[in-house]
Amino acid sequence: PEAITIQELANRMAERAVDVIKLLMKQGQMAKITDTIDADTAQLIAEELGHTVKRVSEADVEEGLFDVADAPEDLVQRPPVVTIMGHVDHGKTSLLDAIRKTNVVGGEAGGITQHIGAYQVKSPSGDKITFIDTPGHAAFTAMRARGARVTDVVVLVVAADDGVMPQTVEAIQHAKAANVPMIVAINKIDKPDAKPERVRTELLQHEVQVESFGGETIEIEVSAKQKTNLDKLLDMIGLQAEILELRANPNRAAEGTVIEAKLDRGRGPVATVLVQRGTLKVGDIVVAGAEWGRVRALVSDTGASIDSAGPSVPVEVLGFNGTPEAGDRLAVVENESRAREVTDYRSHQKREKQAARASGMRGSLEQMMS
Ligand code: GTP
Ligand code: MG
Repeated sequence: PEAITIQELANRMAERAVDVIKLLMKQGQMAKITDTIDADTAQLIAEELGHTVKRVSEADVEEGLFDVADAPEDLVQRPPVVTIMGHVDHGKTSLLDAIRKTNVVGGEAGGITQHIGAYQVKSPSGDKITFIDTPGHAAFTAMRARGARVTDVVVLVVAADDGVMPQTVEAIQHAKAANVPMIVAINKIDKPDAKPERVRTELLQHEVQVESFGGETIEIEVSAKQKTNLDKLLDMIGLQAEILELRANPNRAAEGTVIEAKLDRGRGPVATVLVQRGTLKVGDIVVAGAEWGRVRALVSDTGASIDSAGPSVPVEVLGFNGTPEAGDRLAVVENESRAREVTDYRSHQKREKQAARASGMRGSLEQMMS
């Protein structure tokens, strides 16, 4: 049910809250500034104060922002987006670093200074692969809960000297719940106490049957330290991507997901965005969550300034007026007033939710005290 606090209603009309309360009292309703009134009452009050009311619903505001279908003939192949998951210390970061140092797109090994949480590498066959730097399981879940589907393939890292551990099991469950195919990288096989066979057996106990055990899940023995089988891993990711037939329309207004965002002292709000459909360009007007902005600059994963970013490309977006949140979905809109409409509505919704939560908390606190 739609509702608004008296304070919020007054703010939106640029009236004093006390005048709203007076009108409510005239109608026999006693209310405090923090109280919530329903949309019909709010409309009556607003009209009484001489305002014209335009009631918008979520459907009106969000209409056409996402999920406008592409014609099949407009779709072209796009790189797979891969997330590395696994238990603490099993070598996720080491594996990503090793892959990145040898296979960065553009090939400048050692020239990587930037960390943007996501980057592209080239597989031995020349195809691009986008990696998302371990967002952590909580972030993965949060993104999924928000309907942001960013991962095409999960690489599950299991250390051969440690075996399947609690977070390994968690990762398996995440991948299954999200219905994302998984490739198992049995890592640290250079270690004398490595027991890759044991890993395979333990995985079986969690309903993951690897290929060498007659199952469907690809497994590869790797060593991040000695850079063993990294090309093979990339090949397998490429193979998996082929099966998935990943496609997107690059010739449309961009859509994507915020992977991470921060407020930078010099540059202002900086959002790392994975573009998923369309092409994001400098000058575009974007909304993400309750924030909007005009794209002032796009920075690639190697720190280069670029003019545009297409499907599966991770990019830093500069120009937001505020800092969006990880998991927020980004969309390009036609103009500033549309951006304002969308983000005004969303920030209003956000405030209402926070207020509702706060008053709920107050309620339970009062109960506790009585
Ligand atoms: P968290 O981010 O803390 O969950 O850890 P992680 O999974 O990213 O592991 P990380 O890459 O930080 O590696 C943990 C430790 O294992 C480090 O000391 C690495 O040097 C070591 N390590 C990673 N891969 C290998 C490997 O292939 N062989 C050996 N011998 N050691 C490895
Ligand atoms: Mg790590």
